[in-house]
Amino acid sequence: MIQTIRGFRDILPEEIEVWQKIELEAKNIFENFGFKEIRLPILEKTEVFARGIGESTDIVEKEMFTFPDSKGNNQTMRPEATASIARSYVQHKMYSRQPEQKLYTIGPMFRKERPQKGRYRQFYQIDAEVLGIDSPILDAQILVMLNMLFKKLEVKNLLTKINSLGCPGCRKKYNEILLSFIQNTKDLCSDCERRKTKNPLRILDCKVKSCRNQLKGAPLLKDYLCRECSEHFKALKQCLDLENIKYEIDDYLVRGLDYYTKTAFEIQTLELGAQSAVAGGGRYDGLVEILGGPKTPGIGFAIGFDRLVEIIASNQEVKKEGPLVYFLTFGESAAKKAFKICNNLASQGIKSEMDFSNKSMKASMKKANKSNCKFCAIIGENEIEKGIISLKNMEEGTQEEVLEKDFISIIKKYI
Ligand code: HAM
Repeated sequence: MIQTIRGFRDILPEEIEVWQKIELEAKNIFENFGFKEIRLPILEKTEVFARGIGESTDIVEKEMFTFPDSKGNNQTMRPEATASIARSYVQHKMYSRQPEQKLYTIGPMFRKERPQKGRYRQFYQIDAEVLGIDSPILDAQILVMLNMLFKKLEVKNLLTKINSLGCPGCRKKYNEILLSFIQNTKDLCSDCERRKTKNPLRILDCKVKSCRNQLKGAPLLKDYLCRECSEHFKALKQCLDLENIKYEIDDYLVRGLDYYTKTAFEIQTLELGAQSAVAGGGRYDGLVEILGGPKTPGIGFAIGFDRLVEIIASNQEVKKEGPLVYFLTFGESAAKKAFKICNNLASQGIKSEMDFSNKSMKASMKKANKSNCKFCAIIGENEIEKGIISLKNMEEGTQEEVLEKDFISIIKKYI
């Protein structure tokens, strides 16, 4: 038996209802806020992510699926969508035609992380990005939109954490101050030792307990924000308060991608154990420029689709919708009649199915029951002789005979 690769999995038909429901709600809500869908390639030149996400991030250093093309140039299975969207914005010169873009995309991402519950090597993200707008009101709107989606999906027990990561100006000064504090720490983990020179800010959100303990008294970025960054953060908080969005300020929230500036946020659940982040995002006012475009502000988020499905599937019974009619037929001419009616119903947008198994009434009825249909239509010799169809209402358990010629108009009343 050939099985899927570790960290990769099938999403089976019996699981798909939740995925489809989430996708539909996300699209509806995003489109109500003016977003349009964009579809991007899964494979990109490695430099899109190396430059975009940052050479010294965990993702770029050790988690990307990268391999050379026939000429020896490296290409990478996308680990996220933000850098690809920025690449597309630059490549298609969207900035000159329509500089303000609100885009969303849904699809698989790939990271070579150690697989565990809620963490896969192929996982799915629902990603939304806005390019060309720098207002903090938009930052709040993005969080309102996310909250609206979670509310619509009845996901509870969520915690929204926000922080400001400042701009390159205030961060440069802060990095120096943080570094001189860190010089006095002794037992940082090996990752943090490396980060000392390459990416000191990341030390702040290290998950290793001894690092966390040592960082408790560290100087905080919020005390070094420049005026513009601090006003931006203040305006964001005011707008969130206007909409009663509950949040917690987390001075240690840094996020694992280097492109962030000013606003950063994460939505965590209390229901998934270790892999608690359901969505993450923030502002990235330098990314488009890093990828060769003009200076363009940007903000967005990605929802961990797999994790959201896990939360919903463990808490809610998502209704499995069966066909309106399930046909049971006995004999060839009955089967042909059902064949024609089924096709006719499908062409009118009405769901129906027929049993092909030619088994006994009892066995076929069992299948009809399993299909979750509203009605079961029975056609046997008797029905053909009389020009009727026996129609059984599965919920009420009642059965009536309807004239074959009236069947479709009768069934349509139940849509
Ligand atoms: P991220 O925090 O790396 O951000 O990922 C966003 C979400 O994707 C996470 O909160 C988590 O739910 C989910 N996720 C990440 N890795 C895995 C995995 N291995 N298995 C399952 N789920 C996973 C980004 O990717 C940024 N591009 C978000 C963003 C958009 N920032 C601005 N715009």
